[in-house]
Amino acid sequence: MTGEPLLKVDGLIKHFPIGRKVIGPGGLATVKAVDGVSFELARGETLGIVGESGCGKSTVAKTLVRLEEPTSGTATFEGEDIFAMSARRLRKLRREVQIIFQDPYGSLNPRMTVGDIITEAWEIHKDTVPRRQRKTQAQELLERVGLDPGMINRYPHQFSGGQRQRIGIARALTLRPKIIICDEPVSALDVSVQAQVVNLLEEIQDDFGLSYIFIAHDLSVVRHISDRVGVMYLGRIVELGNEQQIYEEATHPYTQALLSAVPIPDPDESAVAKANRIVLEGDVPSPIDPPSGCHFRTRCWKADSRCAEEDPELIDRFAHGHPSACHYAAMRDPVA
Ligand SMILES: Nc1ncnc2c1ncn2[C@@H]1O[C@H](COP(=O)(O)OP(=O)(O)O)[C@@H](O)[C@H]1O
Ligand SMILES: [Mg+2]
Repeated sequence: MTGEPLLKVDGLIKHFPIGRKVIGPGGLATVKAVDGVSFELARGETLGIVGESGCGKSTVAKTLVRLEEPTSGTATFEGEDIFAMSARRLRKLRREVQIIFQDPYGSLNPRMTVGDIITEAWEIHKDTVPRRQRKTQAQELLERVGLDPGMINRYPHQFSGGQRQRIGIARALTLRPKIIICDEPVSALDVSVQAQVVNLLEEIQDDFGLSYIFIAHDLSVVRHISDRVGVMYLGRIVELGNEQQIYEEATHPYTQALLSAVPIPDPDESAVAKANRIVLEGDVPSPIDPPSGCHFRTRCWKADSRCAEEDPELIDRFAHGHPSACHYAAMRDPVA
């Protein structure tokens, strides 16, 4: 993981104009879907990106392959400016950077057989796999993702949700990408199936030389697969770190709140742990009119006037390689 990052994103902003008047100056309203996101992805790395629904995760993903045009900011792939790429160069980028979406139902054409779904890209890009080898290679790919190659003539509806996501993974691999952006690939699946799909992605990573951006709305989903995790809130990454830094030593109040939310009632939870639990008040503010300064300040127990005035930058305050976008970033007292 030396040398320049495979992907480098700097100050990415995507505001969607929505053609609605806002009160006061400023003209038309915009949805500030992505409001200043910076990160790097190294070769072979898996970067988890976690945040509640609507915080801008998918928009970041789409902007990186120009399915959405950015409002401002820069992004480079192998040192090349993604936002300045010609249409021709962009076609190549979309081979090198694949996205797997959440919904395996919606993203597979119900009228195509699995074989056709997998070989489609080879038909379009004729310089990739010669016609005579397509069927065998498709079967090999099916086997590689844990499906019976004998099922090559079946249709998507004949498979379970988890199997369909495996087909989606096989399809993403056909053009030998360098990056796969997994946009909530397991969110629609039963919990028991989620781990199997995550494990598959992990198993194939080295063999195919892949780097991943793994998007989820739940910190627990990305924990084991990620080398680093970025936590997003209202269009911004608020904290970025490795497993220990995020799950044991979180310094941003929002990350701490996410981690202390206990989804399943635990009868063994101690009274001290209960007392230490952070319950976030209120809802996520609208991205049309996010709070000034720190976007999280309206729900933060540490916020003061400085937080309303000054945008906290995502910087490494303690020189531990663990940036946090909070003026008052600090580790919580250990919970007894
Ligand atoms: N094409 C669009 N036009 C207007 N608003 C959009 C568009 N796409 C996304 N948004 C808004 O941008 C915000 C971020 O959306 P999204 O990136 O899909 O979030 P996430 O993937 O984290 O759930 C949401 O408020 C969403 O409604
Ligand atoms: Mg999304």
